[in-house]
Amino acid sequence: MSIENDFTLIRDYDVNYCLQVFNLQPVAFVKGRGCYLYDTEGNKYLDMIGGIAVNCLGYNHPKLTSAISSQAKNLIHACNYYYIPQKSELAYRLCRASFADKVFFCNSGAEANEAAIKLARSYFYYKDLKKYEIITADMSFHGRTMGTISATGQEKFSRPFEPVVPGFVHVPYNDIDAMIKAVNPHTAAIMLELIQGESGVHPADLEYIQAVKKLCVEKGILLIFDEVQTGIGRTGKMFCYQNYGVAPDIMTLAKGLGGGVPIGAMLTTNAIAVGMKPGDHGSTFGGNPLACAAGNAVMEAFEDEGIIDNVKEVSDELFEKLGKLRSKYNCIRSVRGKGLLIGIEFDDTITAQGMKDQLFSMGILVSAIGKSTIRLAPPLIINKSQAGQFVKAMDKILKNTAGPKSVLGRLKDALPSKKQIKDAAPSIGSAKIDKLDQAGLTGGQDIDVIDDNE
Ligand SMILES: Cc1ncc(COP(=O)(O)O)c(C=O)c1O
Repeated sequence: MSIENDFTLIRDYDVNYCLQVFNLQPVAFVKGRGCYLYDTEGNKYLDMIGGIAVNCLGYNHPKLTSAISSQAKNLIHACNYYYIPQKSELAYRLCRASFADKVFFCNSGAEANEAAIKLARSYFYYKDLKKYEIITADMSFHGRTMGTISATGQEKFSRPFEPVVPGFVHVPYNDIDAMIKAVNPHTAAIMLELIQGESGVHPADLEYIQAVKKLCVEKGILLIFDEVQTGIGRTGKMFCYQNYGVAPDIMTLAKGLGGGVPIGAMLTTNAIAVGMKPGDHGSTFGGNPLACAAGNAVMEAFEDEGIIDNVKEVSDELFEKLGKLRSKYNCIRSVRGKGLLIGIEFDDTITAQGMKDQLFSMGILVSAIGKSTIRLAPPLIINKSQAGQFVKAMDKILKNTAGPKSVLGRLKDALPSKKQIKDAAPSIGSAKIDKLDQAGLTGGQDIDVIDDNE
């Protein structure tokens, strides 16, 4: 039995058999190429969210695809009783590219953060010091396990699961005085995202991060950077901490590291790594040959293909165009972020959900964070013309937006309905519907979206 191309069946099976913890958009993707995804009906979408900052090499990248398939033919899993060549190699590559000397591999961002939290505590345990508290920031996000929802500075993620794990203290982000006040003799670590991705793409101030580092050094506190979302080229450096000139003691990675294959990693220095002994921590799947082969292919692609340069170039142009769009439309309150992790916040005349839905109907994928912000985290191989298509779509939406009516309502008037698009398109199967074409967003040359005469 295969339900792969029948969307109605896919949705029915999901509703009936999957735990309903996600708010799903009405689409199932069956194929990806470059920066584009294709749904069960053959519709093509420009992916501006990249599997939430995961698919850094886009879809069907030759190096990644061939590394995974050849590894699958040789060996998928052997277990951590034995040496694993792909794991040794990936650990070497990550250490060579960062401040770190040692790596622990796991399967997700939350697990990487669990490992970081455990290491921060066990490091002081073996020193016979009662230092176990971890300070994190309000509005942070560190994962969904009990430990990481306790670390996360947003009660909405932990309330139904209380009592939370003790030993976490939350302070306002970018507020060094609050951080200094929170430190006490039991403080083991400060754990921060350099850009708070899940709460609306809020970057840390340079002076703040430098002052936090100084505080950590002075007080003998470990500094943990959660780079699950910002790591692996996302912000125009291999790791976001390199933008700040401040190295942590511990860093966590996941998302982009496997280019779509689940993998997480916790990196640290030799000095801190002594805080974990054989048997203190582990993972059945962590560091398996398949995931590490994917990680090696991703790292190799970064070494060979100028991806970081591409991030910087596309990001510069995207920020410039979004800045112009902001000058043109008052409803854009701010454009934030770094590299290709970008948040666009609207005033209360535009809902993030409405904007996301309108972009979706034009064949563009973004995510909505809260009521007012959309997030972009496209594949890092995106080109300027594709990024321009996104800005042109926003321009088109905002141009048609007048008065305080919701963006969804306003755009329903202005854009063709799904049915109109479908009726106008060739039948499914014989030719694909290209929503970007339908919306007038594709074309040979790059687009100057800010032309008022458009
Ligand atoms: C900064 C950060 N940390 C941790 C996580 C959790 O990662 P995972 O969902 O892979 O467990 C996320 C996920 O979005 C994240 O953005």
